[in-house]
Amino acid sequence: MDSPSVATANVEAPVQEPRNVKGGAEGEVHLAGVTRSFGAVRALEGIDLDVRAGERVAVVGPSGCGKTTLLELVCGLQQPDAGTVSSSPAVLMPQRDGLLPWLRAIDNAALAARLAGASRDEARARAHPLFAAFGLEGFERARPHELSGGMRQRVAFLRTLLSGKPVLCLDEPFGALDALTRHEMQEWLAQALAREPRTVLFVTHDVEEAARVADRVLVMSPRPGRITAELAVPPSRTPDELLSVRERALEALRSC
Ligand SMILES: Nc1ncnc2c1ncn2[C@@H]1O[C@H](COP(=O)(O)OP(=O)(O)OP(=O)(O)O)[C@@H](O)[C@H]1O
Ligand SMILES: [Mg+2]
Repeated sequence: MDSPSVATANVEAPVQEPRNVKGGAEGEVHLAGVTRSFGAVRALEGIDLDVRAGERVAVVGPSGCGKTTLLELVCGLQQPDAGTVSSSPAVLMPQRDGLLPWLRAIDNAALAARLAGASRDEARARAHPLFAAFGLEGFERARPHELSGGMRQRVAFLRTLLSGKPVLCLDEPFGALDALTRHEMQEWLAQALAREPRTVLFVTHDVEEAARVADRVLVMSPRPGRITAELAVPPSRTPDELLSVRERALEALRSC
């Protein structure tokens, strides 16, 4: 319950949910010396990472090297065995879209608002304008099985965005899509983030995708996952620059 002093402050300005529940400044993510094991399986070792507010960081690495574990640590869904994770509130878009098949697209997108206590109409009203903005107009009432793979991913992304958290952790958001749709979705994501800037941690197996979407690409070693290379993507993103990032990322992956 609000204390009297908070209630008084409320008259001047609405009380905000604490934004930095785990100590990171707004939109920032910091990991220091993070290790995570599952029984005898050491998934992550010695992870140091600082992400600036608004930065887009892609993580590439072989299957099983701890990428999902890393995102779950940032979102507070797991705790490290050693080291510290401090992050502004973060939300996970899981490796599979995770849409609830019995809910309409708009109710899937509005799920976070519903879980936070909004009525169905309020939650829908918040989600509705984004459907048009993100190329889903007319599909608000469709169920997930009536949507294409790319559209499902967009609804899942909207759901992630509508959680209102400043940090988005996207786990292979386009992994299940064909190459053409994937390419369209990469451009769509860049436009979506231009409209709704957020800090993004983005896992992918595709180094080209990493270079196209991110400001910085992290390369991880096979398990136990460590960060073995960090590649800055020049903001100009000329074809030659993207090719160079791709080649260096592949080289780093090969030499792990
Ligand atoms: N809840 C868990 N219980 C036991 N082991 C786990 C659990 N979660 C992950 N692991 C193990 O930790 C390691 C890293 O798993 P993680 O899912 O983070 O890898 P990943 O890099 O995301 O792989 P992929 O690219 O295939 O999605 C794997 O060996 C996995 O078996
Ligand atoms: Mg994974």
